[in-house]
Amino acid sequence: MKILVTGGTGYIGSHTCLALISAGFEPVIIDNLCNSKLSVLDRIEEVSGMRPLFYQGDIRDAELLDSIFSEQNIQGVIHFAALKAVGESTQKPYEYFENNISGTLTLLGAMRRAGCYRFIFSSSATVYGDPHAVPIKEDFPRSTMSPYGRTKLMIEQMLEDIEVAEPNWSITLLRYFNPIGAHESGRMGEDPQGIPNNLMPYITQVAIGRRDCLNIFGNDYPTPDGTCVRDYIHVMDLAEGHVKALEVCGHKSGLHIYNLGTGNGVSVLQMVHAFAKASGLEINYKIVDRRPGDVSECWADPSKAQKELGWKATRTLADMTADSWRWQKNNPNGYEA
Ligand code: NAD
Ligand code: WQD
Repeated sequence: MKILVTGGTGYIGSHTCLALISAGFEPVIIDNLCNSKLSVLDRIEEVSGMRPLFYQGDIRDAELLDSIFSEQNIQGVIHFAALKAVGESTQKPYEYFENNISGTLTLLGAMRRAGCYRFIFSSSATVYGDPHAVPIKEDFPRSTMSPYGRTKLMIEQMLEDIEVAEPNWSITLLRYFNPIGAHESGRMGEDPQGIPNNLMPYITQVAIGRRDCLNIFGNDYPTPDGTCVRDYIHVMDLAEGHVKALEVCGHKSGLHIYNLGTGNGVSVLQMVHAFAKASGLEINYKIVDRRPGDVSECWADPSKAQKELGWKATRTLADMTADSWRWQKNNPNGYEA
């Protein structure tokens, strides 16, 4: 069964291709390489034994999408392709709306023309804004704090309206918490361009000596150690969640919504200590001002996915930190090698 994976050479998409191949699916990737490298395909092949079909191009290119659907017998789409940097989205809101929202609409149009109605969307815990309580359940109110977050919320709302009007769709919204870690082989992982925005790649770059010191954004939050608490999830657990969603929801029309997280809150300082333990290295850090827009605590209640998809994150914080470090240590310059 061929599955079109948009953004399939990116961080989560590439790991999901591994999980799809393991489960017997055949991923077909479309990616414009705006935030990933072609050599990811070599690594997917090396790790899985299968080289996915690859189309270098943009999801906003309707003609290209039509030709993919006519050349390949695509049975479903997992839609990762998006711009995802929260800070950058406040500087370039037009580019975020144009890429993420126009791109998704163009993709949905091509799917309709091709008669393909099985769709899994990469949503985010960012749609919960500053949650009134934790753990967060799927029916919590939604709000957003950045243009990036608004692209995710607006796409969720578009998909809800489409599903009501066109009940033949099977639409699954997967809300990821904080994906970290890398494939256990050490051959695939996260390869951010420039200065990392996210905590784990920043820590690994301090560990490898590419950056001097981690800035911890605030230690005066109402949390046990004063630093923010998040739900970090191993990228391979997340990848396997997509396969479960495809297997379970792909056969049911309607709208399906799941949190993909572990259900465990981990503070920034706890993460720094867990990484130090996994790597045997001290991580140089200093406390600086809060980062605007950060919420104090954000972690999932993942029980709906466990109950309905039969999926549960199994990898521990020790696995996540060890795998992140193995990837960084073996590939100091990421996929550039
Ligand atoms: P990523 O940047 O590594 O992967 C996204 C891929 O999409 C990249 O390879 C990029 O080149 C491609 N792309 C972007 N716009 C495109 C376009 N118009 N046409 C074709 N390809 C395009 O990001 P990721 O971390 O793997 O995230 C994947 C998805 O998950 C995104 O939708 C993101 O918003 C969502 N998400 C990510 C996180 C996270 O923390 N990483 C958390 C929640 C949700
Ligand atoms: C985690 C914690 C920071 C970097 C983001 C997006 C969210 C989702 C996942 C896409 C926070 C602290 C970080 C640093 C630090 N992405 N931190 N120093 O902000 O929870 O979520 O990625 O949908 O939408 O907002 O993740 O990794 O940036 O931060 O102290 O150099 O680490 O303050 O408490 P975040 P993050």
